[in-house]
Amino acid sequence: MSAPSVPDTQPGGRRVAFVDLVRAHAELRAQIDEAVARVITRGRFVLGEELEAFESEFASYVGSRHCVGVANGTEALVLALGAAGVAAGDEVVVPTNTCSPTWLAVSALGAVPVGVEPDPDTYTMDPSRLRAALGARTAAVVPVHLYGLAADMDAIRAAVEDSASGSGTPRLVEDAAQAHGTRYRSRRAGSLGDAAAWSFYPTKNLGALGDGGAVTTDDEDLARRVRSLRNYGWGEADPYVSRTRGMNSRLDEIQAAILRVKLGRLEEWNARRAAIADAYISRISNPALRLPREPAWARSSWHLFVLRSPWRDQLREHMDRLGVATLVHYPVPPADQPAYADDSPSEGSELARQLGSEVLSVPLHPHLSAAEVDQVVDALNSFEPVRGDR
Ligand SMILES: Cc1ncc(COP(=O)(O)O)c(C=O)c1O
Repeated sequence: MSAPSVPDTQPGGRRVAFVDLVRAHAELRAQIDEAVARVITRGRFVLGEELEAFESEFASYVGSRHCVGVANGTEALVLALGAAGVAAGDEVVVPTNTCSPTWLAVSALGAVPVGVEPDPDTYTMDPSRLRAALGARTAAVVPVHLYGLAADMDAIRAAVEDSASGSGTPRLVEDAAQAHGTRYRSRRAGSLGDAAAWSFYPTKNLGALGDGGAVTTDDEDLARRVRSLRNYGWGEADPYVSRTRGMNSRLDEIQAAILRVKLGRLEEWNARRAAIADAYISRISNPALRLPREPAWARSSWHLFVLRSPWRDQLREHMDRLGVATLVHYPVPPADQPAYADDSPSEGSELARQLGSEVLSVPLHPHLSAAEVDQVVDALNSFEPVRGDR
């Protein structure tokens, strides 16, 4: 695709940026400045009171007993899976269609990712296909709440429990990197499995001003293990003694203080996302496009608004011509990426591959103006595919 002729963030310009973190932080600037100044004045930058306060506030938001702040979402997955008992040689079931860190976290432990294809309507892990992937070596299952829509956790849990064998029941670890505020039935994502891994990458619904992550869980022992593993494997009572082979993966005080400010706005910002998603769903009427749908039991956090079309590449060029930035989440399934070229997953990634050639994410963020929403809708509705030419 040719480079856009107008920069994405041009003020007052006609180009609709995919995200706009400048506008987002302008709204919170005074509170963020105050939070950062508070940390500098206090002079403690790692494992201090801002982190403790954020952990307690985020645990209560999610509806979990414990939250442990870590350095990023990938390490949150590694630490949650490791603390849940996943070890080298184990199998861990993951979706075929996800961002590659879901798979990389499994491989980092020396475990083997086993891909399961998505439900073709929700794009989240298909519970009926999951059953065939579970076996005696399965140590854990990692459903991803993709694009902000919760995986069908009750059906997934039922499949996992039915598979319990002499070697125990596989652990259920949610990849909640895209699911801040996502609802599944009456509960929030992140409180639905044995543990959940979160990313606070800047563009997430709850984003730091840098990298950040967390593990939430109701399991006190698992939380204690993550707390130790993130800090060199030291015990709480005996610092400087590594009881396990831990690592350094801590969420620092400045990011924790900023995340506390942003957590206070998460529900309001998610409501703005939902209003834009409603506008898109009611106003986009182009039969060449398939719109995302929420099943009755789920409320999306609308991290991403992902359309589908057999003419995706034409659509992307059309949107670019009309000044609307778009992205593809995700073009290549992890199993097809060079890092996994030598592996042979138990199930293929045909559906994930097809989605990779058909999905298109259009701008949806809390700071999109009404005029920008109109521009996105008009651009989508004016798309006419050249049939036969994909
Ligand atoms: C589904 C999913 N899992 C894991 C991650 C990894 O998070 P991080 O970038 O914070 O390491 C991401 C990040 O984009 C993600 O989208």
